[in-house]
Amino acid sequence: MKRTDFQWVSALLVAFGFLIGMSGISLAASKTLKVPSEYKTIQAAIDAASGGDTIQVAAGKYKENITLKEGVILQGAGADNTTIDGNGKGNVVEGAKASVIEGFTITNSGKRGTIGDVMDVGISAKHAPMTIANCRIVGNNTGVRTYFSPSNIVNNIVADNKVYGLYILYSDSSVKNNIIYNNGSYGVYNSYSNPEAINNTIFKNFDGIYSEVSRVVVKNNIVVKNKTVGIHWAEFQDAQDRAEPILSYNLVWGNKTDYVNVLPSKGDVSKDPLLVDLAKGDVLLKKNSPAINAGNEDSADNDPDATRNDMGAYGGPLAQKKIPYSPKEMSYASLKIKTETLAEPDYGSQSAWSGAEGKKSGKGNFNGWCVPCHGGLGKGDGLLAETLGEGIRPRDLSNAELLSSRSDEFLLKVIKEGGASVGFSEAMMSFGANLTEEEIKNMIAYIRSEICKCRYKGEAGK
Ligand code: HEC
Repeated sequence: MKRTDFQWVSALLVAFGFLIGMSGISLAASKTLKVPSEYKTIQAAIDAASGGDTIQVAAGKYKENITLKEGVILQGAGADNTTIDGNGKGNVVEGAKASVIEGFTITNSGKRGTIGDVMDVGISAKHAPMTIANCRIVGNNTGVRTYFSPSNIVNNIVADNKVYGLYILYSDSSVKNNIIYNNGSYGVYNSYSNPEAINNTIFKNFDGIYSEVSRVVVKNNIVVKNKTVGIHWAEFQDAQDRAEPILSYNLVWGNKTDYVNVLPSKGDVSKDPLLVDLAKGDVLLKKNSPAINAGNEDSADNDPDATRNDMGAYGGPLAQKKIPYSPKEMSYASLKIKTETLAEPDYGSQSAWSGAEGKKSGKGNFNGWCVPCHGGLGKGDGLLAETLGEGIRPRDLSNAELLSSRSDEFLLKVIKEGGASVGFSEAMMSFGANLTEEEIKNMIAYIRSEICKCRYKGEAGK
């Protein structure tokens, strides 16, 4: 189906109506802002925009790190023509609730991190459910992170990012018609989320799709030639109540291992999909491809020409002739944007040990015993920090990346038996003689909920 201009306009109106409903924005106020003719930088236009406005960015390369605004639609002149380059610093795009970004290449984020909130990414949606469509998200540390932000991620290329392609944490995101390849770690990583991954083509990543503590709908995808595993469920996933994967109608073939901890399911195919040119990233299907008309038979999954679903990024109801495609034909502003932002969990209760009383006692003991070295915010800058000896510094306990790689049991051991018990400096003394195990556990719950605001996430990345 080709979208006519009329459809495009009405799609926008639907989106506006939706936004108005959500946030009381007046339609009369919505306007179009142009970069660079009216505003020199994208950020200047965003600052001048309000919810419901569209910002149109002309072809060119913009060296900026931008922060979107609630309900604003940001459109480039197509990913082939319009680039936002993050200067190798931080996140390139910081999302906002109910915002839309489409038609850009997003590249060159900072290089920090492999887990959670402290990782530099191309597009970050943090408590900001949004729509990301028709973008080429390449050459970042991680491509996209949705964090407490169920988002629409549609018709993008997500490739050549150092760590993850898509990092989906606490977000029931919708991942459709994307081409995801050559990412250093997982193509699509899901944790504590119930997302859907439908009609994507995922290849040559470390793993294709990886999932832990998540219930992921994985349907109509082509997952081939990933370096380690095609579809990978964490070992501990089964133990979790939300863990059941719903796999169907995927073509999974030629990965080092096709499935780990999950079995091929209804409609799955294991055959060379006959893509036009995998080496060049051209994943159009050849005429005799076994992926043609092999997706789910449900008519709701049909291709735009009303025939049965073709597997992979060029199949299904949202399929377009080109991914990402150019702005005249697009807009995904009409996709129902999920505006629900989820509350962050009480991280204290996600340590193995918790309880309100416990945290109170944990805080008291932390202030009494630990602050002299680790400082009130745990940053390692207490009064005694400089006095411990050459090169010895208290650890920064507010570092979420570090602490989420440490299990509660490990922290218990360090605190109870001292740094030397795990090969750290003995300047980190043992507290087993001064604090009961119960008190130490309460302190760990306090550190997780108030200091690092993080929970144990197991080994990072790959
Ligand atoms: C006399 C100073 C001092 C005090 C008091 C102290 N620490 Fe430490 N702590 C250190 C130092 C120094 C290190 C880093 C050791 C190293 O670099 O080998 C450390 C490391 C740690 C680590 C290890 C983090 C990691 O990398 O896994 C934890 C956890 C920790 N401290 C918690 C506490 C808690 C909780 C208390 C209070 C009960 C406390 N510390 C009190 C000096 C101190």
